[in-house]
Amino acid sequence: MEWGRQNRLSRIIKPETGRTVMLAVDHGYFLGPTYKLENARETIQPLLPYADALMLTRGILRTSVDPSTSVPVVLRVSGGSSIIGADLSNEGITTSIEEAVRMNVSAVALSIFVGSEYEHQTLMNLAYLIDDAQEFGIPVLAVTAVGKELEKRDARFLSLACRIAAEIGASFVKTYFCEEFEKVAQSCPAPLVIAGGPKLETELDAFKMAYDAVQKGAVGVDMGRNIWQNPKPIPMIKAVRAVVHEGAKPEEALDIYKSGG
Ligand code: 5RP
Repeated sequence: MEWGRQNRLSRIIKPETGRTVMLAVDHGYFLGPTYKLENARETIQPLLPYADALMLTRGILRTSVDPSTSVPVVLRVSGGSSIIGADLSNEGITTSIEEAVRMNVSAVALSIFVGSEYEHQTLMNLAYLIDDAQEFGIPVLAVTAVGKELEKRDARFLSLACRIAAEIGASFVKTYFCEEFEKVAQSCPAPLVIAGGPKLETELDAFKMAYDAVQKGAVGVDMGRNIWQNPKPIPMIKAVRAVVHEGAKPEEALDIYKSGG
């Protein structure tokens, strides 16, 4: 891999552990003012010291994050649909690669919707973005979106989507945790991070998911709601960090969470 892209990726996936805890706050790009992200700055600011990278749109980056931050940015550059629109998968590229360079990002992120009506369009979006990003040495994160159909989260579907993303040339891939996740990880030659998905019933459930994902081959998490919709988001992210970077067991993470991190 060429130096610039490797260097940017190393800012996100920490070389010391080979893992990452990315904080996802890009939900508004299709969900609007998501619960606890209504005032994005208020939610993001206290969590920044514990995030290995921040995933968000340019609008929230400009308005809600101080440019003095040293936390690497993964800029979401796909969108164009909303949760109340006709089809969530009908996405295009919303931010140019030149704009991403101006914002000094460490990677750009785009969703692909495999199996949807707009499969071809979103896969071509990924291909064009990778070609553009390659010019500037910027890594691309492919997000294997499932739209509204959360039942699509099985190993067969996710293996297909992740492998296609890697074949097109994504530097790393974001997917969901599922049963037999090891099959997804083993058949994807690019590093994988998992989304948290909607807030789980208990903190222990979230720690178990993060633990199982890294044990089965993920390099970490790109987690949002299970962190910032928690009543104690700082202890939550600290506990997730212990799981991802130190291999803490879910029960140990729960102790960390309960003790305040
Ligand atoms: C939406 C995204 C989100 O960033 C992703 O779902 C991560 O957030 P959460 O952990 O809340 O699911 O990429 O397409």
